[in-house]
Amino acid sequence: MVLSKQRYAGISLLMTAGLLLGIGCSSPTDVPENTATKQPPSDAQIQRAYTMKCSLCHGGDGRLMATKAPDLSLSKLTLEERIALITYGKGTMPPQKGILDAATIRGIAHYIEEFRD
Ligand code: HEC
Repeated sequence: MVLSKQRYAGISLLMTAGLLLGIGCSSPTDVPENTATKQPPSDAQIQRAYTMKCSLCHGGDGRLMATKAPDLSLSKLTLEERIALITYGKGTMPPQKGILDAATIRGIAHYIEEFRD
């Protein structure tokens, strides 16, 4: 069967590309979407994840308040509450479950505490 052979080739090509990508992502300064490594995310990775996933609405300092996002510098949520909110989202705020790994979510929840006065 020529067809299935072609399909097989396509799949293995995809897998090779995935592998290459995986290797490309393993440098310590990369964005922590890579769950393959068990290393805890660095401060730089957490900050980068925040910039990519959160600053659109909350701004670099948590005070942007775009799309009705609350001022994070005034937030009174506990660490665990923030972790839950970031993981599962709320209203227009998108959930990060399956997008960011748990360690990064926790890191961000910690990081945004710096915005408080
Ligand atoms: C699309 C815009 C948007 C993005 C992106 C976004 N948020 Fe939000 N965020 C909101 C909105 C809107 C709320 C208010 C939700 C509600 O109470 O209904 C909110 C609420 C919060 C709160 C609760 C503040 C409080 O005390 O009530 C925290 C903490 C927070 N966001 C952190 C984050 C983090 C961290 C990220 C990135 C992972 C993020 N947000 C990404 C829009 C966004």
